[in-house]
Amino acid sequence: MNANAKSSNKTWVKIIRELDTNLKLFGLIALISNVGIFGGIPLVPDEHRIYAFSIAVIFIAIIFFGMFYVLHKDKSSNKEERSLPKTTEENIPLVNGSLHGSLKGPREIKRLEIQSDGNFTLDIRAFNAALKRMSISNNIHAIDIGCGDGNVTFSRFSEYKVFEKVYGIDKDTDTVNKAILANKDKKIFDFRVFDVENDGLSNFIKNLDPSFHDGVDLIFCTLLLSHLNDPQKLVNKVKSILKPGGVVIFRGSDDGTKICYPNPGGLLEKVIDLTKRIPSVSDRENARKLYKQLLQAKFKNIETFYHVRDTVGKTTEERSKFYYKSFSYRSRYIDLAIDQGHDIAAVNELRKALSDLEDLFSEQDFYYMEMSYIFIASV
Ligand SMILES: C[S@@+](CC[C@H](N)C(=O)[O-])C[C@H]1O[C@@H](n2cnc3c(N)ncnc32)[C@H](O)[C@@H]1O
Repeated sequence: MNANAKSSNKTWVKIIRELDTNLKLFGLIALISNVGIFGGIPLVPDEHRIYAFSIAVIFIAIIFFGMFYVLHKDKSSNKEERSLPKTTEENIPLVNGSLHGSLKGPREIKRLEIQSDGNFTLDIRAFNAALKRMSISNNIHAIDIGCGDGNVTFSRFSEYKVFEKVYGIDKDTDTVNKAILANKDKKIFDFRVFDVENDGLSNFIKNLDPSFHDGVDLIFCTLLLSHLNDPQKLVNKVKSILKPGGVVIFRGSDDGTKICYPNPGGLLEKVIDLTKRIPSVSDRENARKLYKQLLQAKFKNIETFYHVRDTVGKTTEERSKFYYKSFSYRSRYIDLAIDQGHDIAAVNELRKALSDLEDLFSEQDFYYMEMSYIFIASV
C-alpha cells in the first residue's frame, strides 16, 4: 500500500472513531430511521399496517439498544478520564511484577529483535570493556539473566571465542524452550528456567556449573530489572554471585531519553506519562536508577556507554520500524491489562496519542531521538 492510500485509510479510521465516540453515528441513523419509518407507515395499506408498525417498533428497539450500548461505553470511559489523577511518582500504581511475562508471540519477538539489533554495537562496546577488565582471557563461563528467547544471548556471546560456557536463565518456560531449540547445535549455550526473584538463586547458580562454586566471571543482564518487584535485590544478588574481579553488564531502558520535534501539545510526554498509568507496566525509567543501585550494592569501577538513534536520513519503512520498536507495544499493554481485568483510566486518550505519534513518524521531516545506555561494574 502506498503512503497516500495508507494516510487516507487512517483519516477514515479517525473519522469513524470520532463519530462513534461522540454518538453521532448512531444518533444520525436513529433520527433518519425514525423519520423514515413513521413517515412511511401511513402509506402502507390498512390491512398490512399492523405488520409495518411491528417491524418499525422492532427496528427502533434495535437502534435504541445500539445507542444505549455506545452511550454506556462512552460514559464509563468519560468517567475514567474525568477521575484521572495527575500522575506523580506517588500515584503510579504499585504492582507485582510487570506485564512483560504475558507479552509474547511473534510481534513481541520481532520487536525485541529490532531492539536487539539497535543495541548490538552498544552491547559489544560494553563486552569489550568488560573483557578487558577481567583477569582471565579464556574458558570464561558466563550467565545471561532474563535471556528471553536467547537471541541477544547468542548474538553477543558468539562474537567472542573466549567463552567456554554461557547459561541463559529466564522464568518463562515457553521462551526458554524457544532458546533451547534455536541453539540446540551450539554446545556452549545452555538455557534454563528459573525465576530470579525466587529464593535460592545462589544455590541454583552454584549447581549450574562446577566452576560457579567459586563465583561467576561475567553476568550479562538486559531489559530485566524493569520487570522486577525489587530490582535492588537482584543487583545485590548478582554482586554476591560474581567472583572477585568478576564483571556485570546491565542494560535497562529509559523513556526519559526520548525527544522529538514537532511535538504538538507535548504529545511524546503525553504518551510516556499515560503509559505509566497502565497497571503492571514495567518501570520505563529504570536505566537511570542503575548507577545508584550499583553503588548501593558496593560494585566498583562503574562505567557507562551510550548509543543514540534518530530519524535523520531514515526511510519511511525505517521510521515505521522505529515507532514499532519504541511505542507500538504500548497499545498491547493496554489490551493485556484489560484482559487481565484491570480498570484502566485514559485508555482512549493513550490510544489516540499513540495513533497521532505514529502519524508523526510517517512524516519525512519528523525528528525523533532516543538514547540507550549500558553499565558495567566490577566486584
Ligand atoms: C524484555 S525481555 C528481555 C529479553 C532479553 N534480555 C533482551 O534483551 O532482549 C525480559 C525477559 O525477562 C524475563 N523475566 C522477567 N522477570 C523474570 C524473573 N523474575 N526471572 C527470570 N526472568 C524474568 C522475561 O520472561 C523476559 O524474557
